[in-house]
Amino acid sequence: MSFNIAIDGPAGAGKSTIAKRVSKELGFIYVDTGAMYRAMALYFLRSNISNEDEQAISRASENVEITIQYENGEQQVFLNGENVNSKIRTEEVGRLASRLATSTVVRDCLKEAQRSLGESGLVAEGRDMGTVVFPTARFKFFLDARPEVRGMRRFEELQAKGEPADLAQITEMIRQRDDMDRNRAVAPLKPAADAVIVDTSDLGIEGVL
Ligand code: DC
Repeated sequence: MSFNIAIDGPAGAGKSTIAKRVSKELGFIYVDTGAMYRAMALYFLRSNISNEDEQAISRASENVEITIQYENGEQQVFLNGENVNSKIRTEEVGRLASRLATSTVVRDCLKEAQRSLGESGLVAEGRDMGTVVFPTARFKFFLDARPEVRGMRRFEELQAKGEPADLAQITEMIRQRDDMDRNRAVAPLKPAADAVIVDTSDLGIEGVL
């Protein structure tokens, strides 16, 4: 049995938690496509290339290879052969990922890598899984939640990791990133016409599952 499940939605809607659980129960691979955009952003941060210049982005993307492997069932993302999993979870990287995600060149490059993973049944989470990357996925879900709930989830995640966090600031950053993701010209964040929309604001993990 093999088919694809697409899970989309804004930051903090609960996509990762649910995608991981669903993939485990079905024995499918789990693909966090945001991590691929984040790895791309890390490359740009390190190489100091302007993210305003589409031609520079295009040239740079040719030098970037982003691949995914699994260790004990956990996705690991590699940037030109280096495991960068532990380096991509900052707000700075998230913001730049959202900026780079407006580029057609970057999206095309990652779309190809994502599709090549989808040949044997997967649960893929991102912003355009149901609309662009896996339009024929058998099941599509769009998870959403009120902005203040999403901000609180991120705040609690950071606190749990012992990192400094400011709730108002985090909520505002998430709002800005979602604005950028929703309003871009290519592959904007939106539910596919045939997606099931789930508001996770007042649901626990089991409820959403
Ligand atoms: O899911 P995330 O927060 O790790 O994603 C980081 C950014 O990457 C997100 O703000 C927009 C971009 N992204 C995208 O454009 N398309 C995807 N399928 C996944 C992420």
